[in-house]
Amino acid sequence: MIDDQDTGRALPERGMPAEQVLDGIRGLRKGDRPTHGGRLFAYVYDPAVPGLDELAAAAHAESAHVNGLDPTAFPSLLAMENALVGAAARLLGGGPGSTAPDVVGSVTGGGTESLILAVKAARDAHPEITAPRIVVPVTAHAAFAKAAHYLRIALDLVPVDPATLRPSAADVAAAIRPDTVLVACSAPSYAHGVIDPVAEIAAVAAAAGVRCHVDACFGGWTLPWLRRLGAPVPPFDLAVDGVTSISVDLHKYAYAPKGVSVLLHRDPALRAPQYFAYADWPGYTMVNPVIASTRSGGPIAAAYATLRHLGEDGYLRLAGATRDAVAGLADAVRGVDGLRLLAEPESTVVCFTSVDPGLDLFVLVDELTVRGWHTQPQLAYGELPASVHLTVTASVAPRVAEFGPDLADAVAAARAAGPVELPAELAALAATLTPDALTPELVASLAAGLGLGGPATAPGGSAPNATVNALLNAAPPALRERLLVEFVGLLQRPTY
Ligand SMILES: Cc1ncc(COP(=O)(O)O)c(C=O)c1O
Repeated sequence: MIDDQDTGRALPERGMPAEQVLDGIRGLRKGDRPTHGGRLFAYVYDPAVPGLDELAAAAHAESAHVNGLDPTAFPSLLAMENALVGAAARLLGGGPGSTAPDVVGSVTGGGTESLILAVKAARDAHPEITAPRIVVPVTAHAAFAKAAHYLRIALDLVPVDPATLRPSAADVAAAIRPDTVLVACSAPSYAHGVIDPVAEIAAVAAAAGVRCHVDACFGGWTLPWLRRLGAPVPPFDLAVDGVTSISVDLHKYAYAPKGVSVLLHRDPALRAPQYFAYADWPGYTMVNPVIASTRSGGPIAAAYATLRHLGEDGYLRLAGATRDAVAGLADAVRGVDGLRLLAEPESTVVCFTSVDPGLDLFVLVDELTVRGWHTQPQLAYGELPASVHLTVTASVAPRVAEFGPDLADAVAAARAAGPVELPAELAALAATLTPDALTPELVASLAAGLGLGGPATAPGGSAPNATVNALLNAAPPALRERLLVEFVGLLQRPTY
């Protein structure tokens, strides 16, 4: 029952019946991108396994009110966490009988938290280094920059080869300094789905006596299955000498509901500086392995249930379906004149660019949206052109045959529409403005000119975003960051 009087206020004067509350949420959800159905290529990971959502929701509900603050009070949570860490360790080259038998880990709330903690552990292992630094390829996830920012660590970026999209171990070695506490690499990178030369990078880190973290948050859960299916996956995990820690997100390709990642360290001594303990106050003595203190057992129980239900055979089957979907989508891209794969797919990403000046990728993304395909535009960066990113999950497999014709159609429409032409003054502004020259008035007028900050995008997300992307694309990174903060800030206003 939908109540016409319901304004969506979070705290109504009178409490509402449960069904009405849920109806309200379902109504709001109609404006979202479709989380299921294999047409959304970012943000969500859908295996399309019947009954899995219901199982995960039931498991979540069982443990939602359990608090991870104290593992001795809720041994159920400790048991599930330890089991998840064990599963991740075994999958990623550690555990009994491996070359990393003493591996330990933590369950965190997500990939960003895992990476921040890997950086924190590396920093706090060296209290004598007063100005610590980390070495990270430019293609590494932005969470490393966030970690550096939060933890006041200098970020030394290593370039990648524009053809292979990989950093070279020699460049990594050259970037390591006496104050470097961590070297990181990706397996695979989010933007392009490319696996860095982990063994070579870990070797130069080890030679310098520096920790090496492998960010396998995104695809670390699929690479072992793809390898078992015969894909030529290079060594990337704890089996590689010199890899001191690795992270993998269960809320990505392990298909668990959001809020679960695993951070593994090769041995307990490496993990020790990750903890925060505090006894110098009159309350309970606090010991936290992760950033959050109180944390719900819900996501952990849901992940535990998901892994147990799918099992190794399930993940192998899902990886096979995903691999076939990736191959089909890549073929669709190859079949369209004017598009080029930025990298040959080697994991679960299809990433392409435009080689036709008359074909604007941002217009193409909007044309795909109109046709019900939700792709992710990536702005140009350094020598790398703008691109379109597709995170491919198992749910895409049954949709692949529909993608090719729609892509061809969308490309024709984008060509016919022509590239976005930013008004000359806007283009000039993007190219010359410095972030600190952005006034609230300027932001408001830019937002109004771009149609931002008004009513939410229509259901299905069909509003044209190409102009916004074109503006951001024309701006240097520092201005992009500032504009995005301002634009998103306009959206995040209380409703009464
Ligand atoms: C390679 C990689 N690392 C880290 C992250 C951050 O993960 P989260 O969004 O769960 O914080 C992502 C997210 O896409 C990723 O792809």
